[in-house]
Amino acid sequence: MPRLHIVSTSTRPVSLGRPLASWAAGIAAEHGGFEVNPVDLAEINLPFLDEPEQPAARAYVHPHTHTWSALVESGDALVFVLPMYNGSFTAPLKNAIDFLYHEWKGKAVGLVSYSAGPTGGAPAAAAIRPVLQRLGTRLAEQDVAVPGITGLVGEDGTFTAPEGLADELTAVLDQLAKLLTEEPVGE
Ligand SMILES: Cc1cc2nc3c(=O)[nH]c(=O)nc-3n(C[C@H](O)[C@H](O)[C@H](O)COP(=O)(O)O)c2cc1C
Repeated sequence: MPRLHIVSTSTRPVSLGRPLASWAAGIAAEHGGFEVNPVDLAEINLPFLDEPEQPAARAYVHPHTHTWSALVESGDALVFVLPMYNGSFTAPLKNAIDFLYHEWKGKAVGLVSYSAGPTGGAPAAAAIRPVLQRLGTRLAEQDVAVPGITGLVGEDGTFTAPEGLADELTAVLDQLAKLLTEEPVGE
């Protein structure tokens, strides 16, 4: 069974995306097509890129880079659960992507964005797409956008999904599963 990392990418201590990512991991487990592995970028705790060589050289010297590399390598697919900050993707997500290079190639990737406002972070997802395409990931055609995140996470830290969101995420998971059955382009 393919392995899917559900990556909560906010590094804030009280991230509202963390409950959303937990919910998404539950939906992915119910989907049944993946072995699901929840990942929290805050726990990965990467510094700003501090490798002396370019990531494409894969000459990592730091244990945190080896750990992150091995984790990404261990998955066939990833769903990034990403907040929108100031109209775009966040620095910690871009930093975590920039840390690696070859590891991204061929991964099937889905995007679940969220924001306090009405866009649900769709501009952040749209902005990170070309970065992920450049690295040779295979992106699901659709993204999932979750607007009004502040009203969907209760004081007890649980996420209440709006109607239809589970179906939207399931459609993305179906796309990821399908992508993994196809030959990667150019290989
Ligand atoms: C630095 C920063 C910038 C933000 N910019 C936006 C924004 O452009 N649009 C929006 O709707 N919400 C914005 N917000 C609100 C976030 O969507 C909201 O705080 C959300 O909970 C952030 O995700 P997180 O809690 O998982 O870090 C911003 C929040 C932060 C911390």
